[in-house]
Amino acid sequence: MPTLVVVNRRGDEKAVEGEAGLSVMEVIRDNGFDELLALCGGSCSCATCHVYVDEAWIDLVGGPNEDESDLLDSSDHRRDNSRLSCQIRFSDELDGLKVTIAPED
Ligand code: FES
Repeated sequence: MPTLVVVNRRGDEKAVEGEAGLSVMEVIRDNGFDELLALCGGSCSCATCHVYVDEAWIDLVGGPNEDESDLLDSSDHRRDNSRLSCQIRFSDELDGLKVTIAPED
């Protein structure tokens, strides 16, 4: 299974395994990170699954679509590398992807 590297809000880094085909949000949540609320369950309507994609990965992961970008605009912590993790499909191609959980809004 591909590995996802997650940095929590304290700056602690942890590598976890995630099933390809799940969303990055699901991989984070299923590995016990309770900071990522993911309140809407992945339907791109809450923005509580906000992460920063490591700069080395941003080209491969790509940017948000219009709906996702509108939601990200509601965050005070939006950056150029912001994504909603429920909208990133985890895959073998993303093995080693590193994301940081964004501060709570
Ligand atoms: S879980 Fe709600 S927008 Fe991602």
